[in-house]
Amino acid sequence: MAGTEIFGIEEIRVLTDVIERKMIHRYGSHSVRSGIYRVEEFEEKAKKITGSKHALALTNGTAALITALKGIGVGPGDEVITSPFTFIATIEAIVACGAVPILGEIDETLALDPVSAEKLITKKTGALIPVHMFGAAADVDAFVEIGKKYGIPVIEDACEVVGGTYKGRYLGSIGDCGTWSFDPNKTLTVGEGGLILTDDEDLWFKMDCYHDHGHVHSKKHDRGEEGKFGLGVNYRLSELQGALGVVALDKMPAALEKLRRTKKRIIDSVKDTGIKVRPMHDLEGDTASHLIFMLPSPEAAVSFRRAAGETGTGFSIISENTWHYAKHWKALEEMGEKDFFGTKAPSYAPETMAATEAKLSRAVMTGLNINMSDEDTERIINSVRSGAETALR
Ligand SMILES: Cc1ncc(COP(=O)(O)O)c(C=O)c1O
Repeated sequence: MAGTEIFGIEEIRVLTDVIERKMIHRYGSHSVRSGIYRVEEFEEKAKKITGSKHALALTNGTAALITALKGIGVGPGDEVITSPFTFIATIEAIVACGAVPILGEIDETLALDPVSAEKLITKKTGALIPVHMFGAAADVDAFVEIGKKYGIPVIEDACEVVGGTYKGRYLGSIGDCGTWSFDPNKTLTVGEGGLILTDDEDLWFKMDCYHDHGHVHSKKHDRGEEGKFGLGVNYRLSELQGALGVVALDKMPAALEKLRRTKKRIIDSVKDTGIKVRPMHDLEGDTASHLIFMLPSPEAAVSFRRAAGETGTGFSIISENTWHYAKHWKALEEMGEKDFFGTKAPSYAPETMAATEAKLSRAVMTGLNINMSDEDTERIINSVRSGAETALR
């Protein structure tokens, strides 16, 4: 699951090259850098792979989400609709912009349910953020449709699914914009890094300026002479991470191929047990970073976990996952029903997430590695078989 698994000589070579040239800044010093811009190469590669017109690399996925919201113009008092099953960064990005997170419920695929999201739209809704979780796509077409219907921008939080697709299009490249993360826990990592994809020139320009103190970037001028477009922040990526990003994207197809092959082998080997695999809006686009089964009841999920654990594979029940489920975030709950720049936040109490709880409490999950040995794969197969036999008895 962690991209360091596939680090090798290629990463050492590109990092050594950046260090030897002593050219760490992605911008400026045009006359002495021999035309080498590693972060830009990373962006160009992401554009080429996804078909997006623009790509902007930044320090991390959280910065990418904040920059996307800022670029869209989300600000104090606005509401942003997203999923209660995500990483807390999605919520933090909304709050960092002074906006109120509004949580819908998830569908059977464990992504934000478009029907529940649409019901939450108000005059204050500034953006919709469907989150593609644990390898698989949210129902992007439905969100794009809702976005068009109400004139609300859609930001795909694709931080967890770099390389995943939906009906043949790369996740993150379908909404008004989308974000990728390359943090140390992701399938592909550059240490810390993020990327925003968009086809919207105006949005890209605003985000590009915002992420670097408002600079209007131009190779015709050096940094000091560049114009400014408003105020911004510093979310610039360094050339070291840019260089790693180029390698990571080169390695992406082979990494995904391996993950998908392993997952298929496991699923094919346990089909006869009758266990239900997590349904998906696009099975082929799954990055296969996670193996998730849906049990008929929370009790069956507990039995599955126990039996699978006894045969060597740790499965977790997703409703207990404190990292990815809003029910566990006390800091968020404490913000509930308080005033946010003139807009009252809803309650974030666990009872407000009943439909989500009903699904996550039946979902059991284990992560898959890119370089999985035959023995590891066989062990997981045996554990799933044992878990299924016990839980579905
Ligand atoms: C769904 C989701 N959104 C956003 C982020 C934030 O990415 P980063 O860790 O690069 O800031 C993550 C990272 O775990 C994530 O899983």
